[in-house]
Amino acid sequence: MLSSKHPMRNEMLKGIQGNILKAHGRHHTANLFITGEPEKQSEVKAWIRSLTEGKNPIISSGAQQILSIEKFRKEGEDSGPFGCFHISAAGYKYLFGQERADLFGDDSFKDGMANANLNDPPLAMWDEGLQKPHFMLLLADTSEDRVRSVTVEIQKSIMFCTKVTSVVKGHAVFNGKGAGIEHFGYVDGVSQPLFFQDEWEKYKLNNSIIDESKDIVFDPRAKPELVLVPDPLITGDPNAMGSYFVFRKLEQNVKGFKLAEAALAVQLGLEGEEEERIGAQVIGRFEDGSPVQVVHEEGQMPNSAVFNNFDYDSEDASKCPFHAHIRKTNPRSDLPKGEAAKRRMARRGIPFGIRNDDPEDGLIDNKPEGDVGLLFMSYQASIVDQFEFIQKNWANNSNFSKPNTGLDLIIGQGGQEYPIKWGDPTSMRPATFGQFVQMKGGEYFFAPSMRFLQEIDEL
Ligand code: HEM
Repeated sequence: MLSSKHPMRNEMLKGIQGNILKAHGRHHTANLFITGEPEKQSEVKAWIRSLTEGKNPIISSGAQQILSIEKFRKEGEDSGPFGCFHISAAGYKYLFGQERADLFGDDSFKDGMANANLNDPPLAMWDEGLQKPHFMLLLADTSEDRVRSVTVEIQKSIMFCTKVTSVVKGHAVFNGKGAGIEHFGYVDGVSQPLFFQDEWEKYKLNNSIIDESKDIVFDPRAKPELVLVPDPLITGDPNAMGSYFVFRKLEQNVKGFKLAEAALAVQLGLEGEEEERIGAQVIGRFEDGSPVQVVHEEGQMPNSAVFNNFDYDSEDASKCPFHAHIRKTNPRSDLPKGEAAKRRMARRGIPFGIRNDDPEDGLIDNKPEGDVGLLFMSYQASIVDQFEFIQKNWANNSNFSKPNTGLDLIIGQGGQEYPIKWGDPTSMRPATFGQFVQMKGGEYFFAPSMRFLQEIDEL
């Protein structure tokens, strides 16, 4: 774990961009998708370098990010806009030519998302501005106005050498208890790999871990190598690390999802409070975050929005079905030790789209059918072994043999089985559920090291 006493911690954090090991935490964001104009490589490189310069650079290192979090905690001083920069394989080719773009070890990154075998809609159906961009600059701030003004300023400053093909805005959404939710209404961002000692201390408090030798049921601790790899374009500097990054714009049909939940309850003959369990069995958690593996009703856990210290019983799907989204994407000890842990990603997603309804009003008719969703974003050391493995081998796998029993209902494509009595394996019944998440475009990127960004025009 990275504690403040760790001998390598500061040097490592100075070498990487912020947001990789620790989430930026701001509630408003803009993803700028950018493509460089022909013959303008020098100008584009100078602009990228400029993002790391000045008193308050847009792009800050992992070390600067932590200093500003500490300053904010102590003095309440907001450090202003936060940014991080990502380059696709096509972007590397544009800047440095094919040979250097080929230095990357990850084949999926080199091929790009449009060529990935993920059962996605064809490229021509993706949002136009999200088709094969060179760069993605993520801007984040506590103020929506500030995100807007920095976005406009940047767009103006690079008009002569690039095309900004799309600006996708993100806005955090919260439930009545202040926990961050996604548009179907479920608390999100609970289960993450933890890299820092202070995060682990908080986790122990939230998850009632008093005696580490006895109380740990699920261990979220991770080494930085889960998400960091050496930057292939910088040699001889062990702190020049970067991370592979996945962006997917996933539109959610909230009304369709809620109608399907109600129809599934009818199929299974569940009524009253039992009906609430349907959504929980699709996601793996109730809307308040409590895992359906642990409780059979919402509102039973005071720490539901942060609780993660649970595990599955690999022989039993009568509490949490094998195909529930969180069991699909992290089967925990359904797999032999370490097998699920090595696939984890640092998820950094944020909802997009503006709602006119109250997500918690219990109504269905007023729920959006589109234009809202999740900007799925994740950092990992390997797209092939982490994001793509989870999406292809687990979420999209309809093989009914354990642990991949049925498709992931949120992000995979079929037929599943549900328990009609919680905890009773003899009560499993087959039932169907539609797909309410539509992929609208995305790309694989690399978040290069700070040294790469600072020296880009000398490389
Ligand atoms: C619109 C699309 C999506 C929605 C609505 C969604 C929703 C959720 C929710 C509500 C949770 C529970 C909160 C938590 O445990 O942190 C969760 C967890 C998770 N999701 Fe998603 N998700 C979506 C897309 C994806 C995609 C594309 C992936 C990866 C391929 C993914 C991977 C995960 C993982 C790894 C977890 C944590 C599981 C665990 O460790 O227990 N999600 N998601």
